[in-house]
Amino acid sequence: MQLFIFVFCAILQIGYSFVVTNATRVCIIGAGIGGLSTARYLKAEKINFTLIESTKYVGGTWRYDERVGKDENGIPIHTSMYKNLRTNLPKATMELHGFPMPEDTPTFPSWEVYYNYLKSYAEHFDLYKCIKFEHQAISVKKFENEWKVKYKHTPTGKEVEEKFDYVVVATGHHSKPYVPNFPGESLFKGNVIHSHDYRVPDPYKCKKVLIIGSGPSGMDISLEVELVAKRVIHSHHSKEDFNTPFPKHHIMKPDIKEFNETGVIFTDGTYEEIDDVIICTGYKYDYPFLDKNCGLNITRYSVTPVYRHLVNINQPTMMVMGLFFHACLPKALDAQARYATALIKGDFTLPSQDVMMREWQKKYDEIRSAGRPITHIHELGDEEDEYYAALSEESGIEKVPTVMFKIRLLDMEAMTDNLYTFRNFAYTVKDNDTFVRSVEVEEAPRIFPCAGDS
Ligand SMILES: Cc1cc2nc3c(=O)[nH]c(=O)nc-3n(C[C@H](O)[C@H](O)[C@H](O)COP(=O)(O)OP(=O)(O)OC[C@H]3O[C@@H](n4cnc5c(N)ncnc54)[C@H](O)[C@@H]3O)c2cc1C
Ligand SMILES: *[C@@H]1O[C@H](CO)[C@@H](O)[C@H](O)[C@H]1NC(C)=O
Ligand SMILES: *[C@@H]1O[C@H](CO)[C@@H](O)[C@H](O)[C@H]1NC(C)=O
Ligand SMILES: *[C@@H]1O[C@H](CO)[C@@H](O)[C@H](O)[C@H]1NC(C)=O
Ligand SMILES: *[C@@H]1O[C@H](CO)[C@@H](O)[C@H](O)[C@H]1NC(C)=O
Ligand SMILES: *[C@@H]1O[C@H](CO)[C@@H](O)[C@H](O)[C@H]1NC(C)=O
Repeated sequence: MQLFIFVFCAILQIGYSFVVTNATRVCIIGAGIGGLSTARYLKAEKINFTLIESTKYVGGTWRYDERVGKDENGIPIHTSMYKNLRTNLPKATMELHGFPMPEDTPTFPSWEVYYNYLKSYAEHFDLYKCIKFEHQAISVKKFENEWKVKYKHTPTGKEVEEKFDYVVVATGHHSKPYVPNFPGESLFKGNVIHSHDYRVPDPYKCKKVLIIGSGPSGMDISLEVELVAKRVIHSHHSKEDFNTPFPKHHIMKPDIKEFNETGVIFTDGTYEEIDDVIICTGYKYDYPFLDKNCGLNITRYSVTPVYRHLVNINQPTMMVMGLFFHACLPKALDAQARYATALIKGDFTLPSQDVMMREWQKKYDEIRSAGRPITHIHELGDEEDEYYAALSEESGIEKVPTVMFKIRLLDMEAMTDNLYTFRNFAYTVKDNDTFVRSVEVEEAPRIFPCAGDS
């Protein structure tokens, strides 16, 4: 079949093209930033869509929920937000297209301020009435030329099946914990959670806490736990130079060799007694509702093959939003939503499947030959600005200005330099290419009432 499509397209020299009609129907799954943005642009183009959202709320992971485990309808709590979270990107890089944040928004807002912004976004574009809340997608399957989407009304369990021409998957990927196996972990007597279930530092008062992982969650959570803990033992294998002047009771350790009943032996042979563990090893891509016939290969670190980190090459009427990391995520999601809308509207045509497949393979080979781990397949990183340029050149959407990428790089540099102070800066956008950074607030003194050496 694939060979047939390839030959067919090659002979006719055409790409994939779709004609939008009043009968064109789009299914959006998820009402986080990705789903809300897509709804906004489809609505503006008067393209018919159904947005299903399993919770009662918009904003996805940006809504804090003190509960862990399952919600009132038995659906696993989606959000990974914790109570004291402030963004790690400055507000300019998290603003959605043409919808400025209120003037008095701090440079690094709390989750609450940003969540309120997303709610006002949904209100402003009159999206609430377009959302089927408490409906969870349970199966997405291709059937001839249509998508059959089955979804469940979560309070009653009633299932509905609807047919669509396009499916836009916007369920995020910061919800399903990735937890490696640690030798001896079943012996350990203390309390162990994943950062997905971390809410407040209170349970760690005067405890010896092991934090595993040095990604954004591991670093951020370790800083708030050290304020209350007796000792923070931070295990990771990052080669990054952390210049942050950690206090004496926050110590770095290499990887875990094994747990026993009372603590952990690390790969350097040292032992630490531990009360509690917070596993901050990140999240995995997880789309349990996608049928095999969608043609996607989903691993914990990749969803392939996709064109522009978005279009399912085997079924180009399906898009999976927000697969990337190391980017101004809200800007990138907004750009994807505009690209998807332009595609559905017919403003541009995708290359043939064969061309998209070759492009994807090229990217895969580049990562391989550079000796980079294949877990980097969806990293934008240094290529973020090129990504925005490519989306715009192809689809005609307005480009995300280069200044956003530049701000993110300096912010990340400041973060690597000093985790305590990087949020003291303010970033003012001057034009599409330039910004000014200034010191907005001075560092507040940090006190550690419970800190101890042993
Ligand atoms: C702790 C934490 C801190 C972060 N900090 C930052 C930051 O400072 N800056 C930044 O830019 N990004 C940050 N992020 C990344 C964040 O994920 C993105 O900013 C953004 O929220 C992603 O939006 P999304 O729409 O892709 O997914 P989500 O926000 O996860 O939304 C997905 C939605 O889909 C719904 N859903 C899931 N499955 C189904 C289903 N089967 N059927 C129906 N609905 C479903 C969910 O209920 C949810 O509402 C952070 C993430 C976490 C976890
Ligand atoms: C859809 O119908 C509306 C109203 O009948 C019409 O104005 C619009 O042009 C139609 N759109 C398309 C894409 O056919
Ligand atoms: C969308 O399509 C459905 C099913 O064809 C139809 O009932 C509904 O009225 C349409 N909505 C809009 C806004 O066109
Ligand atoms: C765990 O291992 C350490 C280091 O070998 C040891 O000192 C400690 O007693 C062990 N704990 C138990 C309960 O065996
Ligand atoms: C799925 O992707 C992974 C990672 O790229 C790869 O190792 C694996 O072989 C792929 N599986 C299939 C069935 O294509
Ligand atoms: C900034 O970029 C946008 C989009 O590419 C463009 O429309 C606008 O004219 C640019 N502004 C300036 C001052 O160059």
